[in-house]
Amino acid sequence: MKNNQSERKKSSMPLRINRKSFLGVLSIISQELIEAISTKFKIKKPKEEEVLSDVRLKAEINNPNSVLSVIDNYAYKKTFLMNIGDEKGLLLENAISESKAKNILELGVYLGYSTIRILKNLNENSKLTSIESNNKFAEISSEIISIAGLSDKHNLIIGRSSEIIPNLNEKFDFIFIDHWKDLYLKDLKSLEENDLIERNAWIFADNVILFNLEDYLDYVRSSPKYTSKFIPAKREYSKSHPDGVEISIFTNEV
Ligand SMILES: C[S@@+](CC[C@H](N)C(=O)[O-])C[C@H]1O[C@@H](n2cnc3c(N)ncnc32)[C@H](O)[C@@H]1O
Repeated sequence: MKNNQSERKKSSMPLRINRKSFLGVLSIISQELIEAISTKFKIKKPKEEEVLSDVRLKAEINNPNSVLSVIDNYAYKKTFLMNIGDEKGLLLENAISESKAKNILELGVYLGYSTIRILKNLNENSKLTSIESNNKFAEISSEIISIAGLSDKHNLIIGRSSEIIPNLNEKFDFIFIDHWKDLYLKDLKSLEENDLIERNAWIFADNVILFNLEDYLDYVRSSPKYTSKFIPAKREYSKSHPDGVEISIFTNEV
């Protein structure tokens, strides 16, 4: 990615959530409500457990693409899953390859879907540390990542990012941010304050349009420490609701 002014200007669009993105969030909320009611009244088991059963049953062992495709199939045919999804997942894979990152940090694992997309693109000298606060999701994702045959280069830390980040003691050259949306900016600043971001590191943030992450976008687009670029895409598992990812390079210029 080039560090120039025109790119910074290009990146300033779009910032405001539009009607279609709002409908994208509404559709997620309604699907999550139906899911919560169905599991509360024991009509079905939690969808995360269903996904794990599907992966155990249908995915080919040690084949990451087969695991991803079982998960995508579930999300397209049954109900919404908050993975990065197939379209933005490819953007993430391309960014990992292009950046040639060696030490990657992931905030928010859920079922391990994005984790697999990252791990399958790592070379021999690279590794990934992921932080996930939900014990059940951590347990499920560990098994899914192991079925994909990718546990070797992975370190999963269970806990809240706000508590884990200040105790990390290595610098990262690629950070994938995809946990709760109100934490993106707070945790990015915490990573900066704790001196955990390598110069020229890539910061890849998901769902910046879907959830209208204005404060985060304002910061990375206006701070001289970053050169930032927006890539439009559709919301995960949707053909119509707009979303996008923001890729920011930490040039650390003041
Ligand atoms: C959108 S999902 C992650 C999806 C995943 N990156 C993927 O694309 O497959 C967000 C996850 O972040 C986790 N999470 C939320 N707040 C967190 C925090 N403060 N620290 C660590 N994980 C957190 C949630 O439990 C949830 O599993």
